[in-house]
Amino acid sequence: MSYVEIKNICKYFQNNIVLKKINLKIKRGTLTCIFGSNGCGKTTLLNIIAGVIKPDVGYVSIDGKKSNDNIIGYVFQDYRESLLPWKTNLENIAFPLEIKGISKKERESKVLDIVKNLNLRIPLDNYPYQSSGGEQQLVALLREIIAEPKVILMDEPFSSLHCKSRDYLKIEIQKIYKNLGLTIIFVSHEIAETMQLADRIIIMKKYPGEIINMIDINFPRPRTEEVTFSKELSDVRKILRSQI
Ligand SMILES: Nc1ncnc2c1ncn2[C@@H]1O[C@H](COP(=O)(O)OP(=O)(O)OP(=O)(O)O)[C@@H](O)[C@H]1O
Ligand SMILES: [Mg+2]
Repeated sequence: MSYVEIKNICKYFQNNIVLKKINLKIKRGTLTCIFGSNGCGKTTLLNIIAGVIKPDVGYVSIDGKKSNDNIIGYVFQDYRESLLPWKTNLENIAFPLEIKGISKKERESKVLDIVKNLNLRIPLDNYPYQSSGGEQQLVALLREIIAEPKVILMDEPFSSLHCKSRDYLKIEIQKIYKNLGLTIIFVSHEIAETMQLADRIIIMKKYPGEIINMIDINFPRPRTEEVTFSKELSDVRKILRSQI
């Protein structure tokens, strides 16, 4: 049964149709990658799923409820702007717990736990402006994970990370979403990243943004980037390459 249902979504900006009749059913506990070139409407679609903007036609439901009524984690494409500059990295990660009224001591211990369990190195006492782009991206990601939402939307969340941190996080994220039973909708225009992470790839084209293909990848996890170059996945790679 589908958990996230995107039904007949159309979106216009200044009389231009940006998203045209997007229909999608996403199963609980899966990682879906939305793949497409710049400007095909990926961020707009995530914004609609998150309830940040409204579609002109259609609706999104999660577990049978309108998406605005659910707790959704959203790692924005412009993650820097989503961090609170007056809070340290630790306080930023802990922010969802602060809103829930959890005590300072408990918040701190939860943040330290998550950072330790994931074996990450983040300058927790620094402010975002004192941190690298990659560190800020990690903070934005952890702030969503710590809130334990049912669905996490991620808009190219690893784009600023050093390749070593990125490789590490891509493995970790595969373990985390399986362990927590999270449903992740992930936007990317990188072929290897998409193939490595997705249970299902949704391929979009632009002018107007439409879904043109879906590919399921049933390959054992956690997958490394090398796996995406394997013989078994060469057809998938070819299809994605032909769409760029
Ligand atoms: N608020 C807005 N007003 C007018 N046009 C917009 C607005 N937001 C997005 N657009 C346009 O809608 C189209 C889709 O934008 P969107 O940001 O969803 O693309 P994207 O697939 O996320 O691209 P990228 O990979 O570059 O992030 C683009 O042509 C963009 O210029
Ligand atoms: Mg975008």
